[in-house]
Amino acid sequence: MNQRLLQDTLSDTSPVPHTAPLAVTRLSLSNFRNYSGLRIDCDASPVVLFGANGSGKTNLMEAISLLVPGRGMRKAALADLQNIHSPAPWGVAAELHNEVGTMLVGTGRDPESGDNDRRIALVDGKPVRNQQQLAEHIAMAWVTPDMDRILADGTTARRKLIDRLTYSFDTAHAGRVTRYEKAMRERLRLLRDRGAYADHEWLNALEDEMAQSSVAIAAARNQLLSQLLTVMPDIHPAFPHAGLRLLGVAEERLQTTPALLVEDSLREAWATTRQDDANSGTTSCGVHRTDLSVTHIAKNCPADLCSTGEQKALLIAIMLAYLRTLRAHRRMNPLFLMDDIAAHLDDTRRAALFEDIVSLGIQAWLSGTDAAFFSALNQKAQFFEVVNGQISHWH
Ligand SMILES: Nc1ncnc2c1ncn2[C@@H]1O[C@H](COP(=O)(O)OP(=O)(O)OP(=O)(O)O)[C@@H](O)[C@H]1O
Ligand SMILES: [Mg+2]
Repeated sequence: MNQRLLQDTLSDTSPVPHTAPLAVTRLSLSNFRNYSGLRIDCDASPVVLFGANGSGKTNLMEAISLLVPGRGMRKAALADLQNIHSPAPWGVAAELHNEVGTMLVGTGRDPESGDNDRRIALVDGKPVRNQQQLAEHIAMAWVTPDMDRILADGTTARRKLIDRLTYSFDTAHAGRVTRYEKAMRERLRLLRDRGAYADHEWLNALEDEMAQSSVAIAAARNQLLSQLLTVMPDIHPAFPHAGLRLLGVAEERLQTTPALLVEDSLREAWATTRQDDANSGTTSCGVHRTDLSVTHIAKNCPADLCSTGEQKALLIAIMLAYLRTLRAHRRMNPLFLMDDIAAHLDDTRRAALFEDIVSLGIQAWLSGTDAAFFSALNQKAQFFEVVNGQISHWH
């Protein structure tokens, strides 16, 4: 890929500039998880959801998380979203408000899809061709309890996090990752099936596709990371500043080497590892192996050695930096979902988080079992009590 094309790809910004807070002003759910029917009307301020275990707080946030492409914050199978007591297809609809106006976004089970569960999405009543189009209208970030171990465990989860953050930042990223993975799987299949007899021309073509996609993927990840690092000092000082580094063949080389040479070196690497990859049945090098290294800067300590609360604080710091990056780069104010947020945060950090959210002016959705966790947000947020799949506004 030439430099200009790469630059153009990276400077791809939202076709619809959003400059004012994006907020859900109405949310309706039908036959979604433990909700048979629900409607909430709200304003652009933060939303607190509180209620007992099993009342439906996470389900509600999950419903919102399905308004962007992907499988939502629980990565659930579509079939699990369907209310088990109702055969009528599940649906989530939201009225979203920003400076440009009001937009209706909806998603749900395609009633035509029968047993082959399929999800459809609509913007202003019109079906969208693919879910990816939703990302042009809404940006969203979330922090869930499932992410608590992300800085300590598994490279894959951290790489997926970086890629997910990059999608909202640069909507072409998903396509590049898909192209790369498809070519990688195809190369591996050829090597496994045909071994030394595999068609070299075909392998060259696949490795070429992988190399071009890799450079674009790595450049987009690098760009996101450098933006996160730029705004990290702006977040509330109660949160530890996170040192971030991408550990990956393409990402690291791109820091010092022109894109075309990085492409060449990747092609060379794959050409020389064909036999090994055929034997092991895996692709030994590439952007699918990249990891994100996170450090607690003030303590000069790798994140995996930090305490549970410090890891949560580092993760939130990354997300707070990300929210700022989205606003600056895409002129799009994101929604921010924080499920079960009170766990692991001490009083100082909880207060700092609320202060940061309020000063950012974003619509954050926060959940916890007890309204008292959120008392610092009295008068600044709207409180809803969740009881067994029903919601009431709390004054
Ligand atoms: N497909 C479904 N149909 C009906 N009910 C479901 C479905 N999926 C999950 N549930 C139920 O939804 C309920 C609420 O779950 P949810 O995870 O939203 O609770 P929560 O309020 O976040 O609780 P906690 O405080 O424990 O995190 C659970 O009791 C669960 O059994
Ligand atoms: Mg929950």
